[in-house]
Formats: sequence, structure tokens, C-alpha cells
Amino acid sequence: MDKLRITGNGPLEGEIAISGAKNAALPILCASLLTADTLRLTNVPQLRDVMTTQKLLRGMGMRVMTDNVHEIELTGASVDTLVAPYELVKTMRASILVLGPMLARFGEAQVSLPGGCAIGSRPVDQHIKGLQAMGAEIAIEHGYIKARASRLKGARVSTDMVTVTGTENLLMAAVLAEGTSILENAAREPEVVDLAECLIKMGARISGHGTDTIVVEGVERLHGAEHAVMPDRIETGTFLCATMIAGGKVLLRNTRAGILESVLDKLREAGGYIEAGDGWIAIEMRSRPKAVSLRTLPYPAFPTDMQAQFMAMNAIAEGTGVIAETIFENRYMHVSELARMGADIHVDGHTAVVRGVEKLSGATVMATDLRASASLVIAGLAAQGETIVDRIYHLDRGYEHIEAKLGGVGAKIERIQ
Ligand code: UD1
Repeated sequence: MDKLRITGNGPLEGEIAISGAKNAALPILCASLLTADTLRLTNVPQLRDVMTTQKLLRGMGMRVMTDNVHEIELTGASVDTLVAPYELVKTMRASILVLGPMLARFGEAQVSLPGGCAIGSRPVDQHIKGLQAMGAEIAIEHGYIKARASRLKGARVSTDMVTVTGTENLLMAAVLAEGTSILENAAREPEVVDLAECLIKMGARISGHGTDTIVVEGVERLHGAEHAVMPDRIETGTFLCATMIAGGKVLLRNTRAGILESVLDKLREAGGYIEAGDGWIAIEMRSRPKAVSLRTLPYPAFPTDMQAQFMAMNAIAEGTGVIAETIFENRYMHVSELARMGADIHVDGHTAVVRGVEKLSGATVMATDLRASASLVIAGLAAQGETIVDRIYHLDRGYEHIEAKLGGVGAKIERIQ
């Protein structure tokens, strides 16, 4: 199994090109199920979750063509298998995103329940509740969600909590429903907006995306379109944190500041000097960061997907930072691994108190989720000696060539067997 070896060696200098967003690419790939025509996507990141989604769609009969690594054409004229099997869903929870589009276009869908997940129980009850409000008949049998509807009907749906993939599933269902749907308490994440913009190019009638109330006027059919996936704000934030930890000056291209303001505010509070312009963000850090306190919440507040990376930064910062994780119940798996590198972290329920230490020391560590793995890699950049991050298949789910990108700005990092 692949590992990463990182040797702490001082400041980062140079440029990194940011990839397309994983969490926008996955729902947009699934949106191709909504039409028989061709959806052409560019800026698609080359990631394991993207490969898994292609495999899932191919298994349903979708024609998927990839001439170049970042461009994909999907044609849904011959979709004939309306099933998302357990073998794929268990490896990627976001497979649930085929449920809404399949049901909306074909009136039928079977999707395996995702089951347990390293970062908490993560149920899909809100997806199901919303589709039922649109007239779907749903049964849970043999571990599968079995859904039917002759044609979905527009409805007012208010989810009990803000759910990102829940909003995306209901949005994709509503675009082909009969009549108007109003999605209340909708997620405002930029990836939801990117999906809505792609659906509009395909002929959907959507307004209010980016606010907590999305209004959808259902149409009879959608058509083909071309769409460039938005930049990955979590990859952007991860490389900004890496520079805060290792020091130096790094220019991030193919990204934009407007999608991660809450993260940039916290980095400035920690002492980072940040400038941004059209399509780029630059960061300069020449001292030890100051510890920051934060609370994860739905967008536009601080993202849970950046919590682990800020924990790594606080671990070597001056002072004490208090982190509250309010989105997922079990998202502190990186704490014990950071502690093995010498971090001083005390967890009590949803709260972690991080007392910064002058130096971490390299160790062999592993993580059981994507962002936790990223936090260990960036902690290794400033640790004394060698850090081996094991089980990096998690990283390959969500970071495109992380070792090449960090190596390109001077980090000593290599993939080993
Ligand atoms: C998405 C992101 C993930 C990010 C998360 C929160 C994708 C592919 N993944 O995950 O990277 O960490 O948003 O920003 O976009 N919940 C329920 N019932 C439901 C749905 C959700 O109880 O039916 C709960 C979850 O357990 C969690 C909270 O709602 O506590 C938010 O989860 P949600 O926004 O749905 O996360 P995902 O969409 O799975």
C-alpha cells in the first residue's frame, strides 16, 4: 500500500495550480443522468472518487468518454440499469447522488444504503424525506433504497438540517418534476451553486441557488451542455495551511478568494499575509502562526473539511486555539496521530483545545479519512525529521497529485511502497 514520506525542510516557494473541485464534480457527473444528450465537462479533477463515479455511471449504461484527463463527455441515451450497487456505494458515500436524477428521469431507482462511515453515522433520511414529499414511493429492502414515482411532483421541502448532497439530490430531482419546488434550509455551498449553474445550462429553471431557498420550476426534459467545474476550495485551503505551517511564499492559480472567505479570514488572524486577484491567491508567512479558535458550520461559515488542517496549524502555533466541530460527530481521528508527532491536544466531546508547541517531531502516522490524512501531510512539512503517512488511498480520493504539487514548491515529499 502506498505511503508518503515527508521530511521537514523549511519554507515553500513557488506556484501551485489548483484542480477542479471534487465536491462539485461528483454531483455534476451524476447530473448527466438527467438527459439523453451529451454533457461535456472540463476542469474535472483526476481523483479516485471521480473514477468511482464514472464506473458507477458506466454500470448503468452511460457512455463515458475521456480523451484528456480533465475532460469528460457523458451521454445518457442508453441508460438501462437503474441500480447503484453496494460494492461501489460502500467505497464512496456520494454515490447517493444518482438517486434524485435516476428517479426524476426514469421513475425508478435502487441505491444501496451507504452504511457506516469513518466520520460519523451520516444518514440519508433527509434525501428520502424530500423525495417522498415530491411523490416518490420509497422502501428500504435488503440494504437498498428502492424508489418509484411515475413523475415527481414539485413540492415545498424543508430539510431538518443543512445538507449539501441532500440539497443537490433534491435539486436534481426537482428540475424534471411537474410544477414548482421550493427547497428551504438549502445548502449555500459554492458546489451547490456550480451544480445549479450546470443544470441551468442544460435547460433547468432554477433561482435562489446560493441562498437558503432554492426555487425550481420543473421542465419536461433537459438537453446537453458544456460546463467547467469550479476550483476546489478545500484543496486551496489545504495548500494555504501548508504554507502557514512550513512558512514561505506561494501563489495558487486557477482558484478564487470568493469561495473561501471564512478560511482566508482565519489565516489572516493567524498572521498570514494574503493577497488575491482574478483567478489567484498569494500567501506569505515568515513567522510562527498565532493559534486561532474556530467553529465548523455550513457555508458561508468555516468548513468542516478544513478543520483537520487548521488543527495541524494550531499544533505548531503560538498560543492556544479552541476548535468546535459541529457538523460531524466523529471527526477528530487525526488528533491521536498529531499527538504521536508531539502535538498537545485535549478533546472533550465536540471541542478540541490545541496548545501550540514549538516543534513537532516526525513519526509514522495514518489516518482514516481524507482531510485527516491531509492534516498529517502538512504537519509533516514542519516536523523535525521524517514523517511517514500510511494508508494514503484516502488522500487519492480527494487530492490530485498532492506530492507533485507540494514537491513543486520545495517540500521534500515522496510516494513510497
Ligand atoms: C458534503 C461533502 C463533505 C462535507 C460535508 C459538510 C460532498 C460529496 N461531500 O457531505 O465533503 O464534509 O458536505 O460540508 O459534497 N445529515 C443527516 N441526514 C441526511 C443528510 C445529512 O442527518 O439525510 C447530517 C449528517 O450526518 C451531518 C450533517 O447532516 O451531520 C451534514 O451532512 P451533509 O451536508 O449531508 O454532508 P454530505 O453532503 O454527506
